Parts: sequence; C-alpha cells; structure tokens
Amino acid sequence: MSQSNLFGTDGPSQNDASEAARQAAALRAQLHHHAHCYYVLDDPQIPDAEYDRLFRELSALEEAHPELRTPDSPTQRVLGRVLDGFATVKHAVPMLSIRTETDTEASGAAAFDARVRRELGLTPQDPPVEYAAELKFDGLAINLRYEQGVLVCAATRGDGEVGEDVTQNIRTIGQIPLRLNGDAPPVLEVRGEVYMRRDDFELLNERQREKGDKTFVNPRNAAAGAVRQLDPSIAAQRPLSFYAYGLGEVQGWDVPGTHSGLLDALIRLGLPVCHHRAVAQGAEGEHGLVAFHQAMGRQRDQLPFDIDGVVYKVNRRDLQDTLGFVTREPRWAVAHKYPAQEELTQVESIDIQVGRTGKLTPVARLKPVFVGGVTVTNATLHNLFELRRKRVRVGDTVIVRRAGDVIPEVVGVVPGERPAYVPNFKMPAQCPVCGSDVVREPAEVNHRCTGGLFCAAQRKQALLHFAQRRAMDIEGLGEKLVDQLIDGGLVRTLPDLYKLGLLKLAALDRMAEKSAQNIVDALEKSKQTTLPRFLFGLGIRHIGEATAKDLAKHFGQIDRIMDASVEQLLHVNDVGPIVAQSIRTFFDQAHNREVVEQLRAAGVHWEEHEPGTVDPTTLPLYGLTFVLTGTLPTLSRDEAKAMVEAAGGKVAGSVSKKTHYVVAGAEAGSKLDKAQSLGVPILDEDGLRQILLNGPAQSPGV
Ligand code: IVH
Repeated sequence: MSQSNLFGTDGPSQNDASEAARQAAALRAQLHHHAHCYYVLDDPQIPDAEYDRLFRELSALEEAHPELRTPDSPTQRVLGRVLDGFATVKHAVPMLSIRTETDTEASGAAAFDARVRRELGLTPQDPPVEYAAELKFDGLAINLRYEQGVLVCAATRGDGEVGEDVTQNIRTIGQIPLRLNGDAPPVLEVRGEVYMRRDDFELLNERQREKGDKTFVNPRNAAAGAVRQLDPSIAAQRPLSFYAYGLGEVQGWDVPGTHSGLLDALIRLGLPVCHHRAVAQGAEGEHGLVAFHQAMGRQRDQLPFDIDGVVYKVNRRDLQDTLGFVTREPRWAVAHKYPAQEELTQVESIDIQVGRTGKLTPVARLKPVFVGGVTVTNATLHNLFELRRKRVRVGDTVIVRRAGDVIPEVVGVVPGERPAYVPNFKMPAQCPVCGSDVVREPAEVNHRCTGGLFCAAQRKQALLHFAQRRAMDIEGLGEKLVDQLIDGGLVRTLPDLYKLGLLKLAALDRMAEKSAQNIVDALEKSKQTTLPRFLFGLGIRHIGEATAKDLAKHFGQIDRIMDASVEQLLHVNDVGPIVAQSIRTFFDQAHNREVVEQLRAAGVHWEEHEPGTVDPTTLPLYGLTFVLTGTLPTLSRDEAKAMVEAAGGKVAGSVSKKTHYVVAGAEAGSKLDKAQSLGVPILDEDGLRQILLNGPAQSPGV
C-alpha cells in the first residue's frame, strides 16, 4: 500500500482501511509492550527516539482514520480536556480502609497475629498463620476498572461508596497499563496507590521554587493534587507512579487463592506491584511479621518513595472470608506504622548558612523533635521568598518534614500560635561568615555571598563536597575535621589536602595518632578514582553526578573537557546552555585549572579513554574475572567471552583464587573441579545472562 493511501488522500478503499486497522493494532501492541518494559519493568528495550517514532506513526494513522482511535491507544494518555469538575462514580464494591496499629514497636504485629488466631479459633498448638506482608504506600487509593482488558475508568476512593472519575489524569501515568496483558476477564477492578517518588517530588518542588511558585508540602499532597487536577496537561507534568495491591469488582476471573498469588497474577497482567513484599509465617521468628516490619524500617530511608508503615494481610482468601469485616474494616488486614515523617515543633531562631556556591540559605533552629526516625534540630527554609510565602517567624509552631536522606525542611506554619510581636526576617547585606557583599541576581531567588573561595564557609563546603562518598570518597574527612583544617589555615584549596602529613594531622586538637593515620590512608586511597567522580568532586555549578558521567563518557579525557567550547559542550547528552556556560566559566579561571593540575601532580589519577566510549570502571562487571569452561547451551565460547568483555569483565584461561566466577556448560572438566574446591561461584548460561543484565548480586569481594 502506498503512503498517500495510508494517510487518506486518495480516498481509502475497503482494503486500505483494513490494512490501516491492522497496522494501528500492531503499533498499539508494540507501544504497549515497550511502555510496559519502560515504566513497569524499568528495562527499556528500544531507545526513546524509536518509541517516539512508533508513537508518531500511530498518531498519524489515527489522524487519518479517526475511527481507529481506541480508548486504550497510547496516544490517548494525555489528550483529555479541561474539566469543570469531576463526575462521580459509585464503587461496585466499596473501597474500605484498614485498621491502623499505632503501636510502632514489634508488639503491634504480635497483637494483630494474636487477634487473628483468636478469631480463627486457633490454639497455640496450631501452626503459624500465613500472611502477605507489603508496604503501606503514602499516596492515594485508586480503583482501576478494566473491561475486556481495557482501562475504562479510574476513580478515587472518595467516601468509600462514591468516588470521583479521574480517568483522564490517571491515563497520564505511564506505569498504568491502558490494556492488560494476556487473556483479560470481562471485568477486573484493580486497586492500588498512586504516589509520587521522592526524587520526582524534589524536582517538582525545585522547579516550583525556581519559578517562585508555591511548593508542595509532601509527595502525598503533590500526588493528590495532580490526580485531582482538572487540567490534564498540568497533571501530565506531575510525575506520578502506581503500585497495585488489591481488587474491586471481578467478573469472569479465577481469583487466586492467596493474596501473594493475586499479586503475582497482577504482575502477569502487566500491573506494577512493589517487590518489597514477603510471605510471613506468624508474628515471630526469622520469617515472621516482626522481622518484616524491622527489615523494612531499616530500609525505609533508602526507598525511593515514602511509606508510613507496612500492611499485613492474611494470605489465604478462604481465611479472609471467614474473618470478614467489622464495620468498614477487614479483620484480616492491618497497617503497622512507623514513626511519622512530619511533626510539629517550635522555631527558636533563624540562621543563615553559606553553601558551597555561596548560596545563603535561611535555616530554622528548632526545638529538638523526633521525625522520620531521627532527632531534628535544624531545617531548611530554602530561600527568602519561600520563607516569606510560608510566613515563618521565630517562635512559630511549624510542621517539619524529614523523609529519606533528604535534608529536613519546614513545610508550613500552624496558624494562630504566633507570639505577640516578632520582626520579619531579613537577609543580611554582608556574608555572616566572611563579610563580603551579598547579592541577588534579578531573575534569581537565591542570595549569594560574593566572597568565593575567600569565604571560609565556601571553602569548607567545597572540601566536604570533594571528599563525599559519591565524589572522591575520603573516609573520615567530615565536618569537624574540615572546620579544623580551614579554621586552622592548614588547608586553603583542594590540593592542600594531599599535602597533609601524619604530623600535621596528629597535631590537631583531639586527634589520636591512629585516626590521623586513617585519614592519611584514606587520602592515599582516594587518589585512585574515576573521571566522573573527580569531575563531580570539583564542585562546578550545575554539574551533578549524572552530568559528570555524561561529560566523562562524551570526552573521555579531562583535558578535552577543560578545553571544550560551549558549542562542543552542548553536544553532550542533557547539557544545555546554562550547564555548558558554567563548565566553560569554571575552566576559564586560571586558578581552577591550576587546582586540577596540582591534584594530578599530587597523584590523583583515573583511567582515560577515547571520546564517546564508555568509562570501563562504570561497567557492571568491571574488575571481575571470569573463566569459561564446557559447552554452553546456546552461546559459543567466543560469544560468551565477547559479552563478558563488553560488560567490562575479563576472561581468564585458568581458575585461581583471583577468579570471581566460573561459567560452566556441558562436559566441563578440571576447571569446574578446581572452582568447586576453591569455592568460586559457578554460573550456568542463565546465570551469566542474569549477571550481564543486573551485575553481580553482591560484591564477591572486589
Ligand atoms: S489494602 C481492604 N494495601 O492505606 C483493604 N492499602 O486504610 C484495603 N494503602 O486507603 C486497603 N498501601 O490508600 C492496602 N499495601 C496496601 C496499602 C494500602 C497503602 C492505603 C490505601 C488505603 C489505606 C488503608
């Protein structure tokens, strides 16, 4: 068929129309598949540009043949209109809530288990009850209704009986399939939580702050606001995520007999289910609820999203039915909380902190308060404008939020509790640390000290930035030591660090010889680094870890980066005019080039490579040695070798203590025996493919 027919200019014949329908269906299927790989599996199989191309092709087809546009078409995700209000939806099955166990200690889980056992009439001799344990996501509950596998309606919980129709906005969430995989039942309602990841939330607020717009209090509010946004194009700019955890109405589907089985089935249908879940036996013991609560409590800060607790559900559905409901809560489920991430406290004073780039940040000194698992005494107020908008003054009662490893912040003031008279906070005209003038560029929200590295605060922050784990990773070079080094005049610039000997360090106040030696060793160790770490550590404005990696990959060598023009820098992935100019300005300063030279002269080194090639140290198998033996089912020896090497690994001919993995196929001989006797991990072809995809599960001691 010709291109012109496809786009309807010649008046399509019957055949053209069915060909177009076939093509549209094929494109939709491909796009669904790739959206699932991208959003749900986090494992894209085609480049974004290719996805966009397929998407445009489908859009053009639908444009020419509007009758081919289906509600599950990926083109329909973001095309809603601005609404006057939301229609209401009566839930076919009420959306219930769960009882909350407020006791955040282990006893909370034990109390629930004891209640379940009592209700089920179990005696202490009966085996433990099996539970599905999962996370309690801090977002908002949504009911997704699929008919014949197609998403037809998404509704909020509302009062549990009647919710709001937010289908338009929910369609913008890439993780939510518009069509289910496989044989879909006539009706399947999937329930779960819409939430915003912490990094997406921080970015969103950062953007809001830069525009001088109102920021959101926490990810939950930002998510709820986005879902209930009447303009879907605004909703589409608020990055939301989703996890499924239950069912609503079901027709014509064989619901699995256990909750854990249900979640597995939802995954197969293409829905995102959080992998932090477990099947627990009773409350106590290695596989009990308490162990899950504690393990997740330890991981809570590192999770990419907020949770306010965990949820336990009796795993067997027949037992759930036996237990039934009390008023509006199931007897078979409970939420077991963690300490809150938001608390109230009082502002005792407002100080100014000077950052690495000279930015002056107002910081609230707080009456100590336990938030998100730690005691907080300071919280950022970001900038003068944010402080004014929130109307924070000394003496106010404020809401403090601390989640993950994000800096605690004041998110709002509790109205009506302000003392009689407190003067408005003012930004100082001189830097409180070095006395240099403070300026604010007209289009900027931030005030800055103009002192540069003359300012001790900026020098301290520059050192801490350089030494941090994600940069040069100089263990032990923390705030206290940096204060001593700068205030004592021992270190002025980064290269001075490498001139510190044992004697100078040991002479510092409260520094034992052993600790001084540890610092010397850490400095020595830090000299062997990578180009991205070094670049990031220099603290060039706007150069985060990701940009440092992109720059290193693109140019391969520091000298090329130092000499690159703005024009050349703009060719790097994700580098725009502001970032390019910032790099150029940094390296235009002779003293900054001097810092790089002196650091190199002090012995700081890394591997350089040809432009455009990957820094080998960033590859998943970097530093690992493999030995191949025997015949693999589908890969030839050369193919396997090439794959290992492409992932940064080395392939050796014989097994020794230095071998990290042996890949063994059929008729493997003495090498396999040797690996077994040395305790070297042995992989089959599947294991090799796993490790090539995901890297080693845990570091085998490299
Ligand atoms: S199950 C009948 N599981 O917590 C059981 N809820 O009051 C219905 N939530 O409104 C809920 N994570 O928004 C369930 N893994 C999880 C959850 C979860 C968060 C929310 C949900 C619900 C509230 C329960």
